[in-house]
Amino acid sequence: MAQPRVTRIALATLPTPLESGGKLQSGANLWVKRDDLTGLGVGGNKARKLEFLCAEALDNDATCLVTVGAAQSNHCRMTAAAGARLNLPTHLVLSGKKPKNLEGNQMLSSMFGAHLHHTGLDANDWSNLELARAELTEKLICDGQRPHSIPIGGSTAVGAIGYANAFDEIILQCNLQNFAADAIVFTTSSGGTHAGLVAGLLRDRANNPKRIQPKIIGIGVAKGVAMSARLIADLANQTLNLLGETAHATVDDVIIDPNYMGADYALPTQAAADATTWAAHRGAWVLDPVYSAKGFSGLLGRDANGDFGVDSNIVFIHTGGLPSLFVMH
Ligand SMILES: Cc1ncc(COP(=O)(O)O)c(C=O)c1O
Repeated sequence: MAQPRVTRIALATLPTPLESGGKLQSGANLWVKRDDLTGLGVGGNKARKLEFLCAEALDNDATCLVTVGAAQSNHCRMTAAAGARLNLPTHLVLSGKKPKNLEGNQMLSSMFGAHLHHTGLDANDWSNLELARAELTEKLICDGQRPHSIPIGGSTAVGAIGYANAFDEIILQCNLQNFAADAIVFTTSSGGTHAGLVAGLLRDRANNPKRIQPKIIGIGVAKGVAMSARLIADLANQTLNLLGETAHATVDDVIIDPNYMGADYALPTQAAADATTWAAHRGAWVLDPVYSAKGFSGLLGRDANGDFGVDSNIVFIHTGGLPSLFVMH
């Protein structure tokens, strides 16, 4: 088989557990993949991407990391944690104004030693946030640094390899527990998690043509990339290319459910609040209001709509997000 042309540096605690979640309302079995427990800087999905993104930074002899996100970005917090672990100064370009007191992810990012750059921009204004990242990157280059500059959510093909590998990890754990997953459901925003899972599935299908593959279902929580099947298929193809695979993703491989975002990114929904209570009571799983609770509300909503068969096996990837629970609104 073709060898990956990318390197990885260990930052996450892997494999994460796959826990039984009992029965859903329909009689389907719920499984919870605990990617909230990846360890790096209190955990979450970005640790898997950062293992590849930071290896790329070290390969390029970077002297610092730069990335960008919403004011309460988990990706920024985890990049700050990776910077601390690797002794690389880390710059975070954030939406919103500088708050009086740092809370949640910003408090942790600052604790990890990152430099916070508050732009005053709206969290949905991805193009100007990316422009601000490009400007800061330029400035650091002019100052004699070699920044490794990472786009929103770490959603490059290199980052997505983390989730191509997570797909294999999930399938192996399902096999070990004697079941086959019928669907893998998760929260999608900047699209890297989704693209990586699609790439992982297509690689597995090429290697094991007889295996019945799960549906990959992303629950969209932002109006950006997550809502574009075309962009996610393109990113999956770039990921497959880096992995040396010839499999090809099309828009038909990408299922995005936009029905659980509510009015906008980070605005609360009743379904997410109910899903949070359900998950806390059922398995002491702690969901966050911006990402994982909306994703899980999508799983519960689709189950209530009859999407999952009796005794089918549905894996929810808990992508993390704990720190924003502690932010005063
Ligand atoms: C907790 C959490 N879940 C899910 C996601 C979505 O992942 P992706 O950006 O790869 O679509 C994010 C992204 O920021 C996140 O922080």
